[in-house]
Amino acid sequence: MKKILITGGAGFIGSHVVRRFVTKYSNYKIYNLDMLTYAGNLENIKDIENFENYNFIKGDIVDADFINSIFQEYQFDGVIHLAAESHVDRSITDPLAFVKTNVIGTMNLLNASKMIWKDDYSNKRFYHISTDEVYGTLGETGLFTEKTAYDPNSPYSASKASSDHFVRAYGETYGLPYVITNCSNNYGPNHFPEKLIPLFINNIINNKPLPVYGDGKYTRDWLFVKDHAVAIDLVFHEGKNHETYNIGGFNEWQNIDLVKLLCKKMDVKLGRQQGDSEKLITYVKDRPGHDLRYAIDATKINKELGWKPSVTFEEGLEQTIDWYLSNEEWLRNVTSGEYQKYYEKQYS
Ligand code: NAD
Ligand code: DAU
Repeated sequence: MKKILITGGAGFIGSHVVRRFVTKYSNYKIYNLDMLTYAGNLENIKDIENFENYNFIKGDIVDADFINSIFQEYQFDGVIHLAAESHVDRSITDPLAFVKTNVIGTMNLLNASKMIWKDDYSNKRFYHISTDEVYGTLGETGLFTEKTAYDPNSPYSASKASSDHFVRAYGETYGLPYVITNCSNNYGPNHFPEKLIPLFINNIINNKPLPVYGDGKYTRDWLFVKDHAVAIDLVFHEGKNHETYNIGGFNEWQNIDLVKLLCKKMDVKLGRQQGDSEKLITYVKDRPGHDLRYAIDATKINKELGWKPSVTFEEGLEQTIDWYLSNEEWLRNVTSGEYQKYYEKQYS
């Protein structure tokens, strides 16, 4: 039975990946390692917690001794590394937290993998999940390809770029078998409501202002989270060692257009007058170093591995809104306590 370590599996994307692997691969033992920060929530994976091939380990990837000890104990065959500090705004107020988790944490996982695999890398794999933000920003045209030079602008993207470089360096220097994927903006169920789509859904439900940064003309390429989980499964099993694959939704939206679409859909779902939610739109101070546009060229993963998104944005957004409306308790739980303090500080 193969032993696979998935880090960050109580978070947004990680929970969808853990569920997919646990339910699809009964021949794998899945170890979900998560520190349960503000962004980690065991409720996200409650439905699979009693599966026999599933284990949860609570712990911090920044703690090298702890990481070495679990690698010694379980002798993992593969690592799918998603644990990270993931919110750009938080990286602007506390960059060091991002260096610790995203850079040092990744280093600890690389060192522990190298230690237990002892240069015998047959059937081993270190899969590092990264972001399109490492490429910096695009102008009005063009797409990020795997060959685009790294040019990160936020402390978050700089920390992810740094961790990507270390993964690659361990491949070149020690022969560690790795793959990296750089994905665009995800959306879907279980997304923590500090990010644009779930934050705005929550605020519309509660009739609170919708804080659009700057002029709202920033562009992101949105991908439904379950399609990302499918891509991760495919790359883990069929991607080539020492390669990078870009993953994206072929789905660019200016923030303001996306917000208006969301408002229209929420009015229908909540039985409000068309236009009610749009009245909540409030333009606020811009994010420092705000990247104008991200857009992924996902030709490589499409051509080489046959992956493409399966869900249209309309379908994905409907499913997402429906999930939040039928999981109001989840939403209430994650937006109480610390969240209120964060919100006050960020948006006051
Ligand atoms: P998230 O913030 O929802 O979840 C992160 C998880 O990591 C949480 O469960 C948290 O408890 C855990 N974690 C944080 N610090 C930890 C530590 N020190 N030790 C152990 N666990 C820790 O993040 P997400 O949006 O699901 O992103 C997952 C990964 O995908 C990240 O690496 C992120 O950079 C990358 N990514 C995210 C997106 C996106 O749109 N969300 C897009 C591309 C890439
Ligand atoms: O591109 C991939 C990245 O996407 C991931 O690596 C990150 O982990 C993930 O958080 C996301 O980063 P963004 O900064 O693009 O996502 P966010 O949801 O924070 O913001 C999306 C856009 O909406 C961005 O242009 C900023 C804007 N925005 C965001 C918030 C939270 C607002 O206008 N108002 C807001 O309150």
